[in-house]
Amino acid sequence: MFKPQPMFLAVMETASSQRRKKDKTRDSPAKLQYQIQVNGVLYDVQNTDPRMPLAAFLHFMLHLHGTKTMCFESACGCCAVVLEYDDPVNQGKRIVKSVNSCLYPVGALLSLKNHQVITIEALGSVKKGLHPIQQRLADYNGSQCGFCSPGFVMQMFGLLKNNQTPNVQEVEDIFDGNICRCTGYRPILDAMKSFAKDSDASLQGSLIDIEDLMICPMTNQRCDQNSSTGPAEGSDILLYSNCRMKWYQPRTLEQLYDILQENPKEPAKFINGDTAKGVYKGIYFKVNIDVKGIPDLYKVTMGPHGLKVFSNVTLSSLIDYLKLYSDQSPSYNVIAQHLLKITNKSVQNIAGWAGNLMLKWYHKEFKSDVFVIFEAVGAKLAIGDKDGEKTYTPMEFLDVKMEGKVLLYVEIPKLKENEVMNSYKVMPQTQNSQPYVSAGFRMEFEISSGVKLVKSFSMVYTGISDNFIHANATEEFLKGKDITSNETLQGALATLDKEVIPDDNSPLLAKAEYRKSLAFGLFYKFFLSLLDESHVSPCNRSAICSLKRPVSTGKQIFSCRPRNYPLTKPMPKLSAYKQTCGEIEYVNDIDPLHNELFSVFCLSQVGNATIDTIDITRAEKWHGAVKVILAKDIPGFNTFMPPPFEVEEILSSGPVLYAGQPIALCVAVSQHYALEMVDVIKVTYKDEETPIVTLDDAIEKESFYPSPGTELLVGDPVGAISESPYQIEGEVRAGEQYHFHMETQICRCVPTEDGLDVQAASQWLDFAQQAIAGACGIPAKDVNITAKHLGGAYGAKVTRANLVACGAALAAHLLNRPVQCIMDLTTNMKAVGKRHGYIFKYKVGFNEDGMLNGVIIKYYCDNGSSPNDNEVSAYFVFSDNVYKCKNWQLIPVALKTNRAAHTWCRSPGSKPNIFVIETILEHVAKFLSLDPIIVKQRNLYAQGDITPLGFDLPYCSIKDLYSTQIEKVNVTDRLQAIEKFNADNRWKKKGLAVVPLKYCLDWTEGFYLCTVSIFASDGSVMVTHGGVEIGQGINTKVAQVCAYVLGIPVDLIAIKPTTTISSPNSGTTGRSITSELNCLGVKNCCEILRERMSPVKAILPPDTPWKDLVAACFKAKMNMTAQYWVSPDPNSKGEPQYFSYGVTVAEAELDVLTGENQINQVDMLFDCGESLNPAIDIGQIEGAFVMGMGYWLMEKVIYDPKTGEVLNAGTWDYKPPFSKSIPINFNIELLKNAPNAMGVLRSKASGEPPQCMSCVTLFAVKRAIEAARQDIGNDSYFPLSGPATVDEIQTNCLVDYKNFSI
Ligand SMILES: Cc1cc2nc3c(=O)[nH]c(=O)nc-3n(C[C@H](O)[C@H](O)[C@H](O)COP(=O)(O)OP(=O)(O)OC[C@H]3O[C@@H](n4cnc5c(N)ncnc54)[C@H](O)[C@@H]3O)c2cc1C
Ligand code: FES
Ligand code: FES
Repeated sequence: MFKPQPMFLAVMETASSQRRKKDKTRDSPAKLQYQIQVNGVLYDVQNTDPRMPLAAFLHFMLHLHGTKTMCFESACGCCAVVLEYDDPVNQGKRIVKSVNSCLYPVGALLSLKNHQVITIEALGSVKKGLHPIQQRLADYNGSQCGFCSPGFVMQMFGLLKNNQTPNVQEVEDIFDGNICRCTGYRPILDAMKSFAKDSDASLQGSLIDIEDLMICPMTNQRCDQNSSTGPAEGSDILLYSNCRMKWYQPRTLEQLYDILQENPKEPAKFINGDTAKGVYKGIYFKVNIDVKGIPDLYKVTMGPHGLKVFSNVTLSSLIDYLKLYSDQSPSYNVIAQHLLKITNKSVQNIAGWAGNLMLKWYHKEFKSDVFVIFEAVGAKLAIGDKDGEKTYTPMEFLDVKMEGKVLLYVEIPKLKENEVMNSYKVMPQTQNSQPYVSAGFRMEFEISSGVKLVKSFSMVYTGISDNFIHANATEEFLKGKDITSNETLQGALATLDKEVIPDDNSPLLAKAEYRKSLAFGLFYKFFLSLLDESHVSPCNRSAICSLKRPVSTGKQIFSCRPRNYPLTKPMPKLSAYKQTCGEIEYVNDIDPLHNELFSVFCLSQVGNATIDTIDITRAEKWHGAVKVILAKDIPGFNTFMPPPFEVEEILSSGPVLYAGQPIALCVAVSQHYALEMVDVIKVTYKDEETPIVTLDDAIEKESFYPSPGTELLVGDPVGAISESPYQIEGEVRAGEQYHFHMETQICRCVPTEDGLDVQAASQWLDFAQQAIAGACGIPAKDVNITAKHLGGAYGAKVTRANLVACGAALAAHLLNRPVQCIMDLTTNMKAVGKRHGYIFKYKVGFNEDGMLNGVIIKYYCDNGSSPNDNEVSAYFVFSDNVYKCKNWQLIPVALKTNRAAHTWCRSPGSKPNIFVIETILEHVAKFLSLDPIIVKQRNLYAQGDITPLGFDLPYCSIKDLYSTQIEKVNVTDRLQAIEKFNADNRWKKKGLAVVPLKYCLDWTEGFYLCTVSIFASDGSVMVTHGGVEIGQGINTKVAQVCAYVLGIPVDLIAIKPTTTISSPNSGTTGRSITSELNCLGVKNCCEILRERMSPVKAILPPDTPWKDLVAACFKAKMNMTAQYWVSPDPNSKGEPQYFSYGVTVAEAELDVLTGENQINQVDMLFDCGESLNPAIDIGQIEGAFVMGMGYWLMEKVIYDPKTGEVLNAGTWDYKPPFSKSIPINFNIELLKNAPNAMGVLRSKASGEPPQCMSCVTLFAVKRAIEAARQDIGNDSYFPLSGPATVDEIQTNCLVDYKNFSI
């Protein structure tokens, strides 16, 4: 079973002791064996735990903070570095690879001769000059929060080191393991493609000579000038030995066998890539054998029987060899293509095929892609020990006793003349995903009397059940059968039907019904591929190939007003260059003080109970332990949500409301020890009750919070519906979404003479201050909070950041030492709530033309275990979207479940509300057999209409926008083309949908303190404001406004970190209004200053330089600081400040047999007013839209049905969009000539509104599903809830193998 366990972190001691151990000497022969080389400098690691991840070594020991970490699963890419070393088999050749440093053990470098680790610091820096990759990523606006940027830069650097003239396809392929939650990837891909030889002229930059740019900032020398590292002749084999572990580094197979014999009782771990621990965590071995120093295990030979590949050969090298020898057997290319779909490039670069097979050997449920294709092709595995070697089939290997044995090599046979092979992998995403089901098929034919008969067939699956590997009965059935007959096909499928019995024992598995359908569908694809084209009906040919994804492109259309520059100038973010150099300091990048401690929450494992006992004895005695803090130790209030919010306990005082609730805080000298302490805390529970873990359960048991908000009743909806010619009722759902900020929840507190100095990754400093003060029992004035840059937030760090803030503060306060509280990804995903999930039930009455008469919607919104961040009725303002109707009833219900309390997530409330009304319009259209595009158009608001909440729409432009966009992007022609495509293709379908938008921007409740100070000495300007830079570009926009109003260059202005000292009482950063309100505050400050300075200016010559003007003002005793408290009053009708509008058209394509889909094109027209910075706004729009696509099509939170614990708390099972998930053709246009009279300097917000149109992708896919259903005569309405993951989509296509034919 995949059971996420606490991640392995290095045995790290306090920073001071680490520093003592660090030996920064140049080459010293005596220590050669223990030297690693980073950026041209040698470091001795003799006293370092060799298992320490390289990322931790860089961070803690070398204080190189440019390399970031998040997942510790080798799946997000932010920790990428480049590794170079001598090719173990080809003398004089160097190997250069990008590697994820979070899993790579530092000791594993020691077996790589003349290695060199290159980190982001070696490429460039703002002070010394940027590397072209860093420069372009920033210039192209490819960084927002910047947390992912170093990883992207290093990945690209690794590519260019190997290939200085890549093409765009190669560039796009390389980022399969790099996650960016902010940008929507498009600008990153554009920046990187500018290095490609065939890139679009608009992207083209000049190619670079990478070798010339390898100057190490630490040594000022080229950092590929290697000093010798790695094993020397005659050096030791046992490199490390202590009571916890041994670390060997053999150089021959004999030495390896000797080591195995010396340790007969201890299971040994071979270190090749050491990536398997990204999948199965927390498995520790005492005996560790780094096999990479054994040259014999790298051999590859092509012989008469096939390709013989030894076990140290990595997946990426194996792919290269298979491609190299692809002329020897058609199967080699098939296998290479399948291997390319395993994990991501950085893992493929170091992971071996042998380690993958061993994962299957250890864990029978592991869906090994290597196993499937090796078994299907008929590979032979050689296994060796002291006594010699034996060969086995992969199937037989599963039963070999592997203790004391070594996988030596695989022999991949060539196909016989009459043999054909193919393989398939269907996964939740096209990149970096484990399969739902993988399959490999190999068939041998013979021709008898002119008929093509099956001679033998190998039919291998993974993902069906632990034991189902070969479809034996089907293989047998097919022998001797005529391949061109429909009876053969149906007979085989019927046989398969009987023998495919999928496991259904884990909520993490896709539905059994789906996986069974895949088994049929993949076989069908293969079967048709065996036939000559003339034998397959034209319609069915569409079954054979998978979806083709060309290189993505996109247009960004906007206008600027140069006379207003720097306002409206599409300039890069001020911090972009530091971000792409890895120089921006996030909380985790602050060097720990000498006595700093680390704290980790221990979480409950049950969902609805009372704690009976907590035994912390072992934990408190654990190595490195300092204290276990329990609820009783909290000196102040045990809540991280101060009044008027309801109590949410920091540490449970007894009641456990959800599985994942913090119940203790383990404090230790290192994060690793703190995590180990968690494991040895024993908790017993009493009064256990069945938790309510689903929304349906909560509805059935009427588990509701008493005050969900006010119901909205307008007109007489009940009467209007009953009097309407037509009525429908329906239900649709929208799930949860993990925010997936790359910087997980983190806070650091340092006790000082001035109180507690807090570095918080928080979107709401004032609230964190209140929470800390309350928990520690100290006044707010003694809590000084600073937030510089957040590595993503998206709402998760508004109220929820208080949990880690209180944890760190309590520990710091109680122990009087600096303390960090960091949530690793798993803890973060379990302990903290997500975007609220919904069930919507509706009734609608309408006319025959689709015009709405009455709408009743009941919103069941899951609040989880606390109603504090309830959103259900607060967002009714979005419920109508752009549609006019006179009669509404909107009923809020706040569900109480035993899940972590859910919280706001980018476009909270608005996104689901707009989805439900869009669903209703789609439902109405289907009911009337009308095109939803027309029905939506008929119902659009006109200028001067009034919304259900009574708001006037004096500037409503949606009718124009809608028709303009439809015409501009050729919707009519494209619909016709789609209709033809769908008629011609039974197994591929396309769909097109349109979603318009009206978004209400409400400024009330936005309050911020802004201060602008001009330094009299040189005229430079310092700005502080109350918003937090979370990647949205607030600081850049504020600087642009300041520069514009004062009439000075932007580079005279510094935006300082947000603090509770400079901006006390400021509100939360969120709801898309923070940038504009702080711009407003700074604008007002600047106007005050300008006004103040004007009398002095009037008596100076007109061209007096700014610096002299400032000096003259100061001499005139002027206060050079101005402050403004932004706190807009609601207008008399409580109306929003303004509305923004938009229209998005999306086109999708679907593989009906598998459910795999892609968004071929998106065209968005969005009204951003007069954008303050179109580059930033387009970045926000694209990022928001792609995050929305993730929500509607990919991201599914899976809960344990018994306890409610989040089961997919990691990257293995939870998939945000990757770079190939985005629309293939992604076009964004900002409405031209649209100044917003009600906005700040005529602008409109961009952070959230565009995300509300992202449901268009789900509707486009739905259209394609409808086309598939129509082919089997089913044209009835069906709801499609979000997330519509690949498996859900395919299930809705109602595929029945009995309809398969040739
Ligand atoms: C993010 C991510 C995504 C992944 N996605 C997929 C996927 O989609 N499909 C898939 O099939 N796999 C996937 N994997 C698994 C991946 O393929 C394996 O982690 C990798 O191939 C293991 O190789 P390694 O060299 O790192 O093995 P290691 O981690 O070094 O070793 C793994 C095990 O194999 C043993 N071992 C290694 N070499 C030998 C040998 N020569 N003889 C005997 N025992 C040996 C070790 O003792 C150890 O127990 C994924 C992994 C990650 C981290
Ligand atoms: S932290 Fe290394 S890949 Fe995510
Ligand atoms: S910029 Fe990529 S995650 Fe924030």
